Amino acid sequence: MDPTSLQRLVFLTSLLSCSTNQARLTVTPSSSQVFRDERVSLRCEDASDGWTVRRNTSIDNRAECEDWGRSAGSSCNISSSNTLDSGVYWCESTEGSTSNTITITVSGGSVILQSPVLPVMEGDDVTLTCRTKMADPPSADFYKDGVLIRTESDGHMTLLHVSRSDEGLYKCSVQSKGESPESRLSVSEKPRTTSSPMTSTMDPPTASSPLPASSLHLVLRVICHLVVFCPYCISTFLMVSIYRERARGSDLSVSMAMNPSTHAEQGLDDDYDDVMSAVTTEHQF
Ligand SMILES: *[C@@H]1O[C@H](CO)[C@@H](O)[C@H](O)[C@H]1NC(C)=O
Ligand SMILES: *[C@@H]1O[C@H](CO)[C@@H](O)[C@H](O)[C@H]1NC(C)=O
Repeated sequence: MDPTSLQRLVFLTSLLSCSTNQARLTVTPSSSQVFRDERVSLRCEDASDGWTVRRNTSIDNRAECEDWGRSAGSSCNISSSNTLDSGVYWCESTEGSTSNTITITVSGGSVILQSPVLPVMEGDDVTLTCRTKMADPPSADFYKDGVLIRTESDGHMTLLHVSRSDEGLYKCSVQSKGESPESRLSVSEKPRTTSSPMTSTMDPPTASSPLPASSLHLVLRVICHLVVFCPYCISTFLMVSIYRERARGSDLSVSMAMNPSTHAEQGLDDDYDDVMSAVTTEHQF
C-alpha cells in the first residue's frame, strides 16, 4: 500500500475516534467538602448531548439533576447546599456510560477540610486547607486515618511529593470550633509517557481542575481509542490489500492477452500505475 493512502487511513481513523469521547465530571468549588448553604456547580466536560449529572446520597439512588438541582445541558447547580446533598456524583449518558465519580460532603458544622476532589498524581505537592466559616484559616490539627499527623498555625498542610502511602481519610480540627468531616485523598500512578513534569498545588478557591487528573484522563482516552479502532483499522487495511491484489491480477491477464509479444513489459508497468491511482482515488472518501 502506498504511504499516502496509509496516512489518509490513519488520519480518518483518528478523526472517527475523536467522536466517541468520554465525559468528565468537574465541580466548583473544587473541594471535597463545602459548608451548608454554599453553591455547588457540577459540569460534565467533553460531553455530547444526553449526558446528565446523577448522584447517590443517603436518600437518592442514581437520581437525575432534575430531582435535586437546576440543570442546563450537561451541567447542574445546587444553589444552596444541604447536608443531605452529601454523596457521590457522576455523569451518565443515555446509553448508560459513566464518567469519573466525585464525593462531596456538605458540612452542617463550622469546620471543613478542603482537599482535591480528583485523584492527585504521584510526586505532586498537595495542600489541604482547614477552614472555619467566618475567620481566616486558623491553627489546626490534621489527622490521617484518625491519627494526628501535624499541627499547622495557618491552617494549610502541604504534603510534598505524594505517594500511594499518602492515600487515606483526612480531617482537621480547630480548637473550640470542632472538627471537619473526613474526606479521602486518592493518589494515582504517574503515567510513564508524560514528557514534562507537572506540579499541582491545590488552592481550592481558584483551582478548577487539577492538571494531573486530566493528563491521566488523556492517556486512558488514547488507550481506549486504540482498543476500539484497531479492528476497524486492520479490516480496512486487509480489504484494500485484497482489492489491490485482485485488480492487479485481472489487469495483468488482460494486458498479457492484448500484448502477447514485445510490449508486455511496458504494458505491465503502465497497468501497475493505473492500479495505483485507482487505489488512491478509491481512498479519497
Ligand atoms: C449508586 O447506587 C446504586 C444502587 O445502590 C449502585 O448500584 C451504584 O453502584 C452506585 N453508584 C455509585 C457511583 O456509587
Ligand atoms: C450554574 O452556576 C454557574 C456559576 O456558578 C453559572 O455560570 C451557570 O449558568 C449556572 N447554571 C445553571 C444551570 O444554573
